[in-house]
Amino acid sequence: MQRVIVQSIKKNNSWSFGWLSFFWFHRAKLTWFHGSSQDINFSTYTGSDEIKTTAWTSYFSRLPTQELALGYRPRIAERPYLPGSTSGDFLNFFLDLKRVKKPEEFDIKGWSRVCRELVDAELPVYGAILVRNLPLCNMEDFKTFLQNLGYKFFEHGVTGYRTPLGEHVYTASDDPPQVTMEPHNECSYSPFFPKKVIMFCVKEPDSFCGGETVLLKNQDLTTILDPEVTRKFEEKKIRYQAFLPNKNTEAGLQKTWQDRFWVDDPQAVENTLESNGWSFSWDKDKNLRFWYLHSPVIPHPVTGEKMWFNQLTCYHASYYRALPLFENTSIPDDQFPFHSYYGDGSAIEPAVLQHIRAAMWSCAMGFRWRTFDVAILDNKQVLHGRMGWSGERKLVTSLIDE
Ligand SMILES: [Fe+2]
Repeated sequence: MQRVIVQSIKKNNSWSFGWLSFFWFHRAKLTWFHGSSQDINFSTYTGSDEIKTTAWTSYFSRLPTQELALGYRPRIAERPYLPGSTSGDFLNFFLDLKRVKKPEEFDIKGWSRVCRELVDAELPVYGAILVRNLPLCNMEDFKTFLQNLGYKFFEHGVTGYRTPLGEHVYTASDDPPQVTMEPHNECSYSPFFPKKVIMFCVKEPDSFCGGETVLLKNQDLTTILDPEVTRKFEEKKIRYQAFLPNKNTEAGLQKTWQDRFWVDDPQAVENTLESNGWSFSWDKDKNLRFWYLHSPVIPHPVTGEKMWFNQLTCYHASYYRALPLFENTSIPDDQFPFHSYYGDGSAIEPAVLQHIRAAMWSCAMGFRWRTFDVAILDNKQVLHGRMGWSGERKLVTSLIDE
């Protein structure tokens, strides 16, 4: 029997639409091979029959270059048991398939320009864009890409639990990996919130190990929420209250205000809070509480339609009580990192929280990350969350102010 294995790597100028109904997926041009302007085909075959080359495209599809990428850089200079490697004229590293390139086609700044045009034109329409197979092979490449997008970065200080990694890049979240994060609009508990969220996958999760990013459209959620629930929140508003213990007390299990604001000076914290419109108080142990009253809705950036836009469930004590960190603790609601109330300080009914949670998860979708993917989210139109995972997975993020 004739067996033919063909791997084809060819220029691909097409765009794919419709992923997850609103997600725009772009597979960047696959022109990885030096000196080639033509399609490149590799074939091997066993058996005596002649290969019918005219028919092979019916039987084989392209193997994405991403799947061939090594994902690390093996050293070849001065490599033990490799003849010639100590002579000084070897490259330091064996070239990854993705790195063999025409220099002019792999200029990261150039890809930043193209992606900026794509995002500016299409993000308001689709709400989320995933770009795959860009020539980004590590964090430094992503930082170069990010800087050259030319956006203004979000710098309002109160940005959740992240570790700064330099040049406006942060860990996506420092919460434990097993935690599934409820969908939310980023910083929608704050008077200032980023307009875009950009994510970069440094290490994709293992297959079937979770770690999917969860997405849903604010519009979809708005239409399935009980209008009476929305009306009541519009009337009373939401009070988001944060609690951050002092590092010198044993008041809580969570990060301290020193960790959260990356300063030791209470006056610097007050300056940040005041400039962002928060109210605040310090207790006798110098633990910090701060809060803000927020509308549960905003107008859609394109149509002006009223849209649910907040994160009252994942900033509620009931969310934190479910986390491993707080398992079997009995601390009061107002000593969790956040707790949300109606604007008059009254408790949000458990049935209302359950209704909102069930509505969110009923229209949430997920996708599988590949290493070096970049996703851009319109934070006004799309809520994001994540599935918990096991094993290795690393995402970093940057928040954009325009
Ligand atoms: Fe987030």
